[in-house]
Amino acid sequence: MFPNGVGAYVDLMADLIPGMKDGSVRTALDTGCGVASWGGDLLARNILTVSLAPRDNHEAQVQFALERGIPAILGIISTQRLPIPSASMDMAHCSRCLIPWTEFGGLYLMEIQRVLRPGGFWVLSGPPINYENRWHGWNTTVEAQKADFDRLKKMLASMCFRLYNKKGDIAVWQKSLDAGCYDKLTPVTTPAKCDDSVDADAAWYVPMRSCVTAPSPKSRGKALPKWPQRLGVAPERVSVVPGGSGSAMKHDDGKWKAAVKHYKALLPALGSDKVRNVMDMSTVYGGFAASLVKDPVWVMNVVSSYGPNSLGVVYDRGLIGTNHDWCEAFSTYPRTYDLLHADGLFAAESHRCEMKFVLVEMDRILRPTGYAIIRDNPYFLDSVASIAKGMRWTCDRHDTENKENEKEKLLICHKQLWSAKKQYI
Ligand SMILES: C[S@@+](CC[C@H](N)C(=O)[O-])C[C@H]1O[C@@H](n2cnc3c(N)ncnc32)[C@H](O)[C@@H]1O
Repeated sequence: MFPNGVGAYVDLMADLIPGMKDGSVRTALDTGCGVASWGGDLLARNILTVSLAPRDNHEAQVQFALERGIPAILGIISTQRLPIPSASMDMAHCSRCLIPWTEFGGLYLMEIQRVLRPGGFWVLSGPPINYENRWHGWNTTVEAQKADFDRLKKMLASMCFRLYNKKGDIAVWQKSLDAGCYDKLTPVTTPAKCDDSVDADAAWYVPMRSCVTAPSPKSRGKALPKWPQRLGVAPERVSVVPGGSGSAMKHDDGKWKAAVKHYKALLPALGSDKVRNVMDMSTVYGGFAASLVKDPVWVMNVVSSYGPNSLGVVYDRGLIGTNHDWCEAFSTYPRTYDLLHADGLFAAESHRCEMKFVLVEMDRILRPTGYAIIRDNPYFLDSVASIAKGMRWTCDRHDTENKENEKEKLLICHKQLWSAKKQYI
């Protein structure tokens, strides 16, 4: 809740964090997002937010967010890591998000610490911030709130955060860039430093760990270029992708630039206000999203949970996304995306789960009158076309931007708005 409007709230925050105004802060996480007004406001300020909330007594808040055209996923800070690699977010935020940050030895703060980039900011508003003036309204005592605030400050300091700025209802901590602070932690200190037994970037059904993730000395301590320059700069972790390099990423960007130009010729809705919520269902470097960056869309980049984990590259470029296994349901409500792009997904998934299950999940996610662009081997496209017909999608087959390429073709599908015949209802 933002009594003076979310714009005034973010204006105050941006005064406390100048990096929000100059392109240093580009990616953000809003835990306990409500209807994602914070992320919605930031979108207009060129900051891309993953807004996160569960379905609880606050009802379908993530559905409202997506209906408003704001990026959001269903999720909870609970026992499993968020599906996001380490050192990805430039900023994380909680406004009255009800997450018990100081419970369980600070486990939930450690998860925020993992996903924040060194130098990234953690912003808290609501209890216990400004408890001196606000405690009357919180059904608590001033002593209890003071104790909670003191505990929070101590925990954050012990995890290598420093109080960066504070005014009124907002407090900002910064994750340390100083390796010396992490060097003081060991697997037996409190808090402990994470050992190498679990990859810090592994985030698919990985239980949260009660330890502090030290930034990798090689790549994660360095400041990234500001937005929008960082979109075109290959980050150091491009080397986690097999065959990954700066030139491979540039080549991939070139491919997607040509592909998106071709897609727009075949599907004029792309690039218009008819398409807003877009998902790239199987990306490597986020090249498809990068080619759409000037359009009135946002793209959820999905990196396979069982292939090479290139999602860190996507975040380092200033794009957002999540890990996912397409043999499972995606953490979203029905009818929440306007366009799905599946590149080679069926060839990749065919040995793992049945194609019809993936297509039925796509149908669930796609809003009626939304589109799917499916790019795959012609053998798989034939099967996709027949299942899509059963789902009452209308699909047209096309060459890719490279006509001569017989190994890859396109299916552009339009989900119809239909209802059961009267006699069945
Ligand atoms: C009071 S609302 C605040 C919403 C929004 N941040 C605002 O200020 O308007 C609390 C939010 O926290 C979410 N929430 C509660 N516990 C959570 C948890 N463990 N992980 C993620 N979100 C949680 C709720 O679903 C809800 O979206």
